[in-house]
Amino acid sequence: MKRRTFLKDAAFLTAAAAAMPSCIVRDNGAPSADSLRTAGDFRFRNDGTFTLLQFTDTHYIAGDPRSQRALACVKEAIQAVKPDLVIHTGDIVFGRPDIESAQEILQPLAESGIPWAVALGNHDSQFGSSREEMFRAIRELPGCVNHPPKDGVYGCSNDVITLSGARGVERVFYLFDSMDAVVLKGEEEVHCYDYIRHSQIGWYRSYSEHFTVENEGCPVPSLAFFHIPLPELPEALAKGIGPMAGNNGEPPCPSRLNSGLFAQFRELGDVQAVVTGHDHDCDYVLPYGGIHFVYGRFSGGDTIYNHLGPDGYIPSDGPTAPGTVSGCRLFQFREGESGFRTWVRLVGGETQQALSLPCK
Ligand SMILES: [Fe+2]
Repeated sequence: MKRRTFLKDAAFLTAAAAAMPSCIVRDNGAPSADSLRTAGDFRFRNDGTFTLLQFTDTHYIAGDPRSQRALACVKEAIQAVKPDLVIHTGDIVFGRPDIESAQEILQPLAESGIPWAVALGNHDSQFGSSREEMFRAIRELPGCVNHPPKDGVYGCSNDVITLSGARGVERVFYLFDSMDAVVLKGEEEVHCYDYIRHSQIGWYRSYSEHFTVENEGCPVPSLAFFHIPLPELPEALAKGIGPMAGNNGEPPCPSRLNSGLFAQFRELGDVQAVVTGHDHDCDYVLPYGGIHFVYGRFSGGDTIYNHLGPDGYIPSDGPTAPGTVSGCRLFQFREGESGFRTWVRLVGGETQQALSLPCK
């Protein structure tokens, strides 16, 4: 455990030492008068289903043979599943040339004709390009539905995607930019992963309240996607609440600062699941306070630590272990139903952790 924590901390310290990207880091405390535009409004298929595929932590480095597994994972899953929407929850790249790396690992999505979006990870602006530059380059790829950064909202990859049925919006997918690292100066200086800012919470609330009003006062079932898990996840584990399914190979590494997003989700009552990546040896689902914490399945290669095999966590003294298998997580929604199904798919097609959430 200590070694993996160190690997992530080492990356964090590098990030903290670097200047924060200045051009997009705004936190004016309130959302601008930005209209309630969405990055896409999707429809169910004729059979009443909608399938969303999540990749996470591809940590791709162009030209590095250790990344071939990541590219193969993305290609195989897209071709086999043919989802209706793809969301990559960040740590897309892990080295220079960073823009070229992003373009290469996202190319199978760009060529697929399937719409896709990203929620950037902490490593995505650590290899030369600013977060804004990386986000702009990603947005230029075919099929990407992310909108430009919102004026007055902290970060880049904050977006809202809706899924509508015959009666209007039935699902909302919120994408937050959980950024990289933060250093708060003062008597007790804090260096840690960044936290969701006040402006992002205000931005989320404005949409959430709008959809609730439009839905005659009933919150619209929603999922939130971002890279770094919330501080309530280790809180749940510390209380003895364990995963209902999946692998728990390492402690979660959220920000040390809790800005209250989880409380907002509970207060507004729409978010059913908080879907993240970041902790490569976890792919579990854990219920807490009426919300499910859901990890994606590591989709990368061997440029970064990973120890999940087809039968679970593989102990190893090295950053990777022989026999690890990448994959993705899937979500399926049905028109007229408030719950959803989720499962993990490994490269090659094996599926694990089939769940219907929320549990009845
Ligand atoms: Fe990662």
